[in-house]
Formats: sequence, structure tokens, C-alpha cells
Amino acid sequence: MAVIIDGKAVSAQVKENIKTEVSALQEKGISVALAVVLVGEDPASKIYVRNKKIACEAVGIQSKEFLLPESTSEDELLQLIQQLNEDPEINGILVQLPLPKQIREQKILESISPIKDVDAFHPVNVGKIMTGAFDFLPCTPAGCMELLHSAGITAEGKRCVVIGRSNIVGKPMAMLLLHEHGTVTICHSKTPNLAEICRTADILIAAVGRAKLVTADMVRPGAAVIDVGMNRQDGKLCGDVDFDQVEPIAGAITPVPGGVGPMTIAMLLKNTLKAAFLQNNL
Ligand code: GUN
Repeated sequence: MAVIIDGKAVSAQVKENIKTEVSALQEKGISVALAVVLVGEDPASKIYVRNKKIACEAVGIQSKEFLLPESTSEDELLQLIQQLNEDPEINGILVQLPLPKQIREQKILESISPIKDVDAFHPVNVGKIMTGAFDFLPCTPAGCMELLHSAGITAEGKRCVVIGRSNIVGKPMAMLLLHEHGTVTICHSKTPNLAEICRTADILIAAVGRAKLVTADMVRPGAAVIDVGMNRQDGKLCGDVDFDQVEPIAGAITPVPGGVGPMTIAMLLKNTLKAAFLQNNL
């Protein structure tokens, strides 16, 4: 029987601390604001953007939404970002991904001022994550680390396996575990012997986007299993881990929903607060 790591409870605590810090800034006359840009009508993106707005408001961060039509050109989006980069009232800028096909994602991410880049997707911030001298932590990997810590687990001395090599989760996740002195293996869709490698893990992070890919035979008894997946199967939300199979074997496990998801938003709020501190030389 595993300890169930409760992402809702941990994120509530993080948000409570952020709320206190935002109030303290407001008393000094400093407000904190996040610009969220959504291009098009992707239903999942609309829900994510709405959740980010609700979370901002709950901690006293102003959320300014920019909803642009699907037909927006790359130049139009670049112009908006330029305007937000120059706006002293805006501390953080988040452009919701994916973008419509006429817009080059990398070009957009590179146009966001690194000091307002609360997703930590700009190459300058990606580079800082590599060296360990970061201003902003990538939201989802940072959320996974906080969940491990909340269960009293650190990566030092542990064998860590990350399944998934995306720029948003897999690669930065491996870096954070490495910074904490974990011994890290990154696996992906072309890895032979995936089950065998996963079975060596004391800490297993599943971030591939394949429903219930991680089965009982892939988990070492007592391992900590963090499930970043957000998939739909038979109309039900489920992770990359087959929770019912794995939970009796693992030492600790995050559920889906209620695990990593709420932490990603909490980390976004934390980065927005950090941006306000940096921009006010605090
Ligand atoms: N789309 C899916 N996840 C993310 C994220 O973490 N940030 C942004 N900007 N878009 C996303």
C-alpha cells in the first residue's frame, strides 16, 4: 500500500504562502500581474487558461487575459508580446501552447522577455536550468519535486528514471533530479527494455502522454511514482500510470487527477511572484 501524495493539499499550502507574500508586496504598493495569451479555440487550452485565471485571483495576482482568434498571424502575436514585454504593469507572460500552425512556437517563446518568462521556456532560462543558476523553475518539473519533498523523498543517492524527453517536462525534470544529486536515466518511446530500466528506479517519473503505460511489472517495490500524464480513456481522465495496478506495489504515488496538475499551476504562481521580486529589485 502506497502513500498517496495529495497534490491538492500540497498546492493549497504553496498557494497560501504565495498569497501572504503577494499581500506583503501590495502593502508596499507593488501589485503582481500575469498576462495569459490564448490563440484560438482549443478546448483543453481554454480550460487550462480558465484554471490559471481562477488560481491567480485566489492569491491576489492580477490575471490579464488576451484571447486572440485562430487566424492570428505570427507578426500580430509578436507585436502583442512586444507590448507586454514593455508594459511595466505586467510581471509575467504566458503564451498557452499549442499554437495554431501558421505560428512558429519557438519564434514566439524566444520573443518573450526572459525576466517575464514564467514558463521558463526561453532558451536563456532553459540554459540556466542546465547550469543550475536559474531564476524560474519549469512549472511541472518543479511541482513534481515539491510533491516528492512533501513525502520526505529527495533524489540524492537514488536511482531516478524519467519516461519522456519533452522540452516542457522530461528534459528539465531530469535536470532538477540531477541537481539534487539523483542518478538519472531518461527513457522515451524508442528505448529498448523500458520495463527493465523502470524496475531499477527508486523514483519513477512518467511523462509520456500514454494512458496507463506504466504497469505493475515496471515498478520496483517501494518506489516513488510521480504521474505527469493527463490522458482520456473511455471518457475518463487517467495518467500514464495504471494506478490500480501500481499503487499496491509503490511506496508513494501521485493520483490523476489531484496529483501533479494542481502543482503545475501553483508553480506558475510562484514564478509570477518571483518575476515581480526580480523586476522590483527585491
Ligand atoms: N500547454 C500545455 N502545458 C503548458 C504549459 O506548461 N505552459 C504553456 N504555456 N502551455 C502549455
